Amino acid sequence: MTLLEVNDLHVRYDADGQQVHAVDGVDFSVEHGETYGLVGESGCGKTTLAKSLVHLLDSNGHIENGEIWFDGTLPHWEDERGEPRREIIEDDQYPVREDGMTDLAQLDNQQIRDVRWRNVALVPQSAMNALNPVYKVGDQIVEAILRHEPETTKAEADRRARDLLERVGIDPERADDYAHQFSGGMKQRAVIAMAMACSPDLLIADEPTTALDVIIQDRILEELEELQEEFGVAILVVSHDISVMAEICDKLAVMYGGKMMESGPKADVLEEAANPYTLGLKNSFPTVEKADQDLVSIPGTPPTLLDPSDGCRFANRCPFAIEECHSEHPPMYDVEQAASGKRTEAGTASAHRSACYRVDELDAMRTEARKEETWQQINAKNH
Ligand SMILES: Nc1ncnc2c1ncn2[C@@H]1O[C@H](COP(=O)(O)OP(=O)(O)OP(=O)(O)O)[C@@H](O)[C@H]1O
Ligand code: SF4
Ligand SMILES: [Mg+2]
Repeated sequence: MTLLEVNDLHVRYDADGQQVHAVDGVDFSVEHGETYGLVGESGCGKTTLAKSLVHLLDSNGHIENGEIWFDGTLPHWEDERGEPRREIIEDDQYPVREDGMTDLAQLDNQQIRDVRWRNVALVPQSAMNALNPVYKVGDQIVEAILRHEPETTKAEADRRARDLLERVGIDPERADDYAHQFSGGMKQRAVIAMAMACSPDLLIADEPTTALDVIIQDRILEELEELQEEFGVAILVVSHDISVMAEICDKLAVMYGGKMMESGPKADVLEEAANPYTLGLKNSFPTVEKADQDLVSIPGTPPTLLDPSDGCRFANRCPFAIEECHSEHPPMYDVEQAASGKRTEAGTASAHRSACYRVDELDAMRTEARKEETWQQINAKNH
């Protein structure tokens, strides 16, 4: 069952009279209880997308267009049986659909505040710096619980805070420590514990393992998996590191230049990659391909999002670009249909999707993409 359905989301920043189209028409959906990964190079719009879901964008950023349908049990909008309240569905001022899903994009400040933490909790990028240095770590979790559940007693919140710390592998006695007494990995885990304080339906973890050593990274990923199993929480993991995604995600979406290039079940995207950008990204990470294979990075740099070109966002770094690629950015195509030679636009039933005009020539592209010289051509072309 779908928990989150994002349709044609556009997010823009206004800076010095210029417009940054950081998320430019993105669609994806997350099922209840699954782990969904969002991957892409630095600056492609991952954090912007994550923050926009709960209206935590910087003040110069806003959702320009799009829908963010959410199926959590929103606090004020259900009747005593837990069903969506009829009068809300029928009242035009509430963005609730017939099936009970609510459009988070249309919520006002008060409404989205109700949703944050209780329904959707965001562990921000560089979260380990988010702890307040002058309060004990445990007290910060207690405060988060009491702020969102004022009916809970302090003693109960304290017990839950210690329990949560233990669940993420921190000795509950350490609840009385201050953040500076924690290592980087412990701080990251404490912020994850805090995000879980109100048992959200969706946990968004933005770069949860970046800046941590490999052993700590593995432990954090294991703990996220355990939380997911224990609480049934869906997790949206954001990372530039495709090997992190390989470890924990059920599904994967690959972003480039504010657009979604490919999405589908993890095994399809990693083992049967269907987009030149994904093929390039895979070449540049060690644990996805064989360890003894040389890493090949994609030459060039991601496009500026200030004034995106009309064509495929990846065209100037893509070794397979043809004339058609410079017309407009490709729509998402159904990869399964493409395998039988038909280029068909993806629909809701399409599990594996790729935005590439040459999706029906995949076998040849996969073979070529394995060769270093294929990517070196781009360097030659751009110089
Ligand atoms: N407040 C802002 N004002 C203007 N531009 C911004 C702002 N915040 C982000 N951007 C720009 O929006 C684009 C997307 O940034 P974002 O932080 O979402 O990318 P990211 O994929 O999370 O990158 P990273 O992997 O480095 O965290 C970038 O071009 C960035 O420079
Ligand atoms: S549409 Fe063209 S430029 Fe874009 S990824 Fe496909 S082949 Fe490359
Ligand atoms: Mg980011």
